[in-house]
Amino acid sequence: MRIGIIGGTGVYELAEKSGRTSRVHTSYETVEVTESEHAGHDLVFLARHGDDHAVPPHRVPYLANIDALRRKDCECIIATNAVGSTRDGMQPGDFVLPDQFIDFTKGRPLTFFDGGRKGVRHVDVTVPYCPALRRTAFKLLEDDAQPIHPAGTYVCTEGPRFETPAEIRMFQALGGDLVGMTGVPEVVLAREAGICYMTVCVVTNFAAGVARAPLREGEVTELMEQRLPVLRSFILSIAENIETVRDCDCRG
Ligand code: HPA
Repeated sequence: MRIGIIGGTGVYELAEKSGRTSRVHTSYETVEVTESEHAGHDLVFLARHGDDHAVPPHRVPYLANIDALRRKDCECIIATNAVGSTRDGMQPGDFVLPDQFIDFTKGRPLTFFDGGRKGVRHVDVTVPYCPALRRTAFKLLEDDAQPIHPAGTYVCTEGPRFETPAEIRMFQALGGDLVGMTGVPEVVLAREAGICYMTVCVVTNFAAGVARAPLREGEVTELMEQRLPVLRSFILSIAENIETVRDCDCRG
C-alpha cells in the first residue's frame, strides 16, 4: 500500500536516513516529497511547512499537498499537528487522535470543487477522520503505555498569532478540546480526494488563558523536539499496522 505522511511543526523528515526526494507537479504548486519503503509499504512524506518551517499556516499549499499525495496513489494519510489544549485533562506531551473539528479559518482555499470545470460537490464530513486508522493508532499507543486520548475536537484557527483567552473560552464553550492552525482544510481535502486521513496531535502547551503564563513560541518547538522520537516511531508502526481492507466510508 502507498501511505502519505504529512509532517507538521517539528517533523521535517520521517527518519534520519531519508529516502528518494522528488518534485511532484500538481494542478496547483509543485510539491517536494520523499519516498521510502517500510514494512512492505511505500511511504510518501512531505513537510507541511517546508523543510525549514518557512511556510506559515495560512500559506500552506493544502490543495497541492493533497493533490500530490493523490497523484502518488496514496490510499491513506497519517498527519501530525502540534496543538494547544483547552482542557486540564489533555496535558503537554499527550497524544490526541481527534475525531471532530470546528473550522475557524478565514481566508484559505477550501475545496478542490471550486465550480466551473472543477464542478461543485458537498462532501459529507460526519466522520471526518478515518475511524479505522484511528482505531489502529489508539491500540498501538495504548499498548505502548503512552499518554493518548482516543478522541477530541480540534478547533482550527487562522493564525499565525496565538489565541486570546476570550477566544479560548469560546472554543471551550463550543466543545473544542484542542486548538491548532493547520488541521483544516487538509482533512476536508483528503475526504474530497477519497483518501483515508487521520492526524496525531501532540499537545505542546496549554492554550492561552488556560496556561498560567503567556505562551512562548519556543514552548511548541521544545515540546515537539522532546516527543519527536516517540512520534516518529508511532507513525511508522501505524503505517506497518494499517489494515489493507478498512471498515470505513472515507473513499465515498
Ligand atoms: N494555539 C494554536 N496553535 C497551536 C498552539 C496553540 O496554543 N500550540 C501549538 N499550535
